[in-house]
Amino acid sequence: MKVPLLDLQAQYEGIRGEIEAALRGVLESQRFILGPEVEALEAEIAAYCGASHAVACASGSDALLLALMAAGVGPGDEVLCPSYTFFATAGSVARLGARPVFADIDPATYNLDPEAARRVASRCTRLAAILPVHLFGRAFDAGPLGELAAELRIPLIEDAAQAIGASDSRGRRCGSLGFAGCFSFFPSKNLGAYGDGGILTTADDEAAERLRVLRVHGAKPKYHHHLVGLNSRLDALQAAVVRVKLRHLDRWTEGRQRNAARYDAAFLDAGACRSGEPLDEAELPLAVPAENPPGARHVYNQYVVRVPADRRDALRAFLAERGIGTEVYYPLGLHQQPCFADLGYRAGDLPATEQAADETLALPIYPELSEAQLDTVIGSVLDFLRGRS
Ligand SMILES: Cc1ncc(COP(=O)(O)O)c(C=O)c1O
Repeated sequence: MKVPLLDLQAQYEGIRGEIEAALRGVLESQRFILGPEVEALEAEIAAYCGASHAVACASGSDALLLALMAAGVGPGDEVLCPSYTFFATAGSVARLGARPVFADIDPATYNLDPEAARRVASRCTRLAAILPVHLFGRAFDAGPLGELAAELRIPLIEDAAQAIGASDSRGRRCGSLGFAGCFSFFPSKNLGAYGDGGILTTADDEAAERLRVLRVHGAKPKYHHHLVGLNSRLDALQAAVVRVKLRHLDRWTEGRQRNAARYDAAFLDAGACRSGEPLDEAELPLAVPAENPPGARHVYNQYVVRVPADRRDALRAFLAERGIGTEVYYPLGLHQQPCFADLGYRAGDLPATEQAADETLALPIYPELSEAQLDTVIGSVLDFLRGRS
């Protein structure tokens, strides 16, 4: 039985009619860039995320870039972010001539460790923003990071690319926790377009206005430029797709949560521990994700387990042989990437990040997984780890 990491075809089968009707509507309107379809999506996403405004753009990467630009980050500034994340988090900082300053993660949640962030911030001289990531669909704790940003009078920008619909333990939605939330509509995200796309959320009226101007080359009115922006607009066909999918998102999220609970129960029953606990003391050398704080909503863009570093790649190959797709998010911390060598980090600087990069593996979690597929994944992981491979 095949179990791909993600099966967008299965999702499409369930929404084909709605998607075709929505695309036809755009074709009939002949309005392709921004326009009413994008405005309708912006209103729906703002409401969904508990934000006053949403501003659509061309990708999640551009959302990060635009948020940093709107916050006034520029050459020579420092931006504090995790190293254990997708490249765009720090790439957006570097593209503005600013310097990513990395802090380590909490090994249980994989999100920025607030204590580490505070230590790193105390050594900065030009810290202009804090940019944590809601990694894998789990909201970071905005309490201590928000306090740090407030003390330093700098904005907290959320990289919420993987976390639409997630909320923290106080029930506050990702995208409503700081100066701006940055979301991606990359097809593999929980709310994906059929191409690139992204959106920002903010409660700040002025920031929303600046973002709207920045995404059209800084022009307002047309052909009059007080700012240098970029071309980063969402097109109406993508907005129409995302609007259809938004209607199904909560049901899909429940499916992801159900699958995660099923994996958790099966693996814990077999002797696994939780991420953050020592692997070698577990009966089974496997750690499932840390428990979710009461009241928080984890949306499981990824379901990530840990195994001992020297067995991770062999487990991956074993699962691939049985037709099971997996991925390593992420094999290197950003502080170890060649393009950031000039930042001067060395191996061992961010131990929790480096350990996660060596031990983690994402298993299929998409909502359309069948019982038989879940059983296949669980059985195969246990076969490998119990030496019945
Ligand atoms: C954490 C994170 N940040 C930023 C991005 C960038 O989004 P996009 O691929 O839409 O540019 C992604 C997604 O790929 C991501 O996972």
